[in-house]
Amino acid sequence: MKTFTLPGTDLVVPNVVLGLMRIQDKTDDEVRALVHSARDAGITFLDHADIYGDDLHGCERRFAEATRLSPAERAEWVIQSKAGIVPDGPYFDFSYDHLVGSVHGSLDALGTDYLDILLLHRPDPLVEPEEVARAFSDLHAAGKVRAFGVSNHTPGQIELLRRYVEQPIVANQMQLSIPHAPLVAQGVASNMAALDQSVSRDLGTLDYCRLHDITVQAWSPLQGGAGHGVFLGSPEHPELNTVIDRLAAQYDVPPIAIATAWITRHPAQMQVVLGTTSPDRVAGAAQGSDVPLTRAEWSELFRAAGHHVP
Ligand SMILES: NC(=O)c1ccc[n+]([C@@H]2O[C@H](COP(=O)([O-])OP(=O)(O)OC[C@H]3O[C@@H](n4cnc5c(N)ncnc54)[C@H](OP(=O)(O)O)[C@@H]3O)[C@@H](O)[C@H]2O)c1
Repeated sequence: MKTFTLPGTDLVVPNVVLGLMRIQDKTDDEVRALVHSARDAGITFLDHADIYGDDLHGCERRFAEATRLSPAERAEWVIQSKAGIVPDGPYFDFSYDHLVGSVHGSLDALGTDYLDILLLHRPDPLVEPEEVARAFSDLHAAGKVRAFGVSNHTPGQIELLRRYVEQPIVANQMQLSIPHAPLVAQGVASNMAALDQSVSRDLGTLDYCRLHDITVQAWSPLQGGAGHGVFLGSPEHPELNTVIDRLAAQYDVPPIAIATAWITRHPAQMQVVLGTTSPDRVAGAAQGSDVPLTRAEWSELFRAAGHHVP
């Protein structure tokens, strides 16, 4: 497993992360098998959110109940959670009271004294950056959150926060997979008339994050995009799967590792946030951590997913 020091922190992190959005209905044994599979593969970083699960903090609680980590075991993990979405609406709330209350709820559900990283889950159109700054500073000073980031944020939204927030913004979690790749694909076809790919939907987020040492974390790395489901083995993506299968055989890894590798190969040093609840798939995906795809292979996957290369 490839690791690196997350810029803006002293945390040494893997470039593949285990997301726990889908564990609500899993038994203790299933959660333990999933988490152990991750740990055995070198995935020492867990992604949570207050809203994951049937109820608020449901998946965080399920994780804690199943794993019952001792303080020493807890210290071996980087635990990240998110706040800012009010599911009963839905709407967004970056107010001081909401953010601090959410973190306290996460700490209680997780049975831990601190989060390594807190992300603002989705942009709040009514954001008052002074409130966010006050919440971050108080949580940091109290030792309850060690580092801060965002998710699904544009460069302008991050700039606004950075003007007020004292701590560095260390991560921006965005949706990215081989077929769902506006983050990467727009820049390839910039300035092309009448081509949907040329439309900027994130306003240069990837380049902005690289310029400011903000690590991009790729969520839904196996999903084809809105409503299309998993692309691996899907008849909707025959050309892509042919290339994936050929490269998997060539590198002697399972196909899921190639889906991971397409993201980890990018020089932005992104992290892949897995969502599978299958221990075998976690182990397979982890094998993509440092598959050295060539520039030609990376580009062939990109084209086979249907992206335009002018
Ligand atoms: N920041 C955000 O806004 C945001 C949004 C969404 C998610 N996330 C984070 O990102 C993580 C990953 O998201 P995700 O779960 O959508 O990612 P994903 O890894 O792309 O998808 C996982 C889902 O695909 C299924 N799957 C994987 N491989 C499969 C295969 N070969 N055949 C059939 N099904 C397969 C899994 O089922 P099995 O469990 O059966 O393998 C699981 O239901 C989440 O856990 C969460 O931490 C963040």
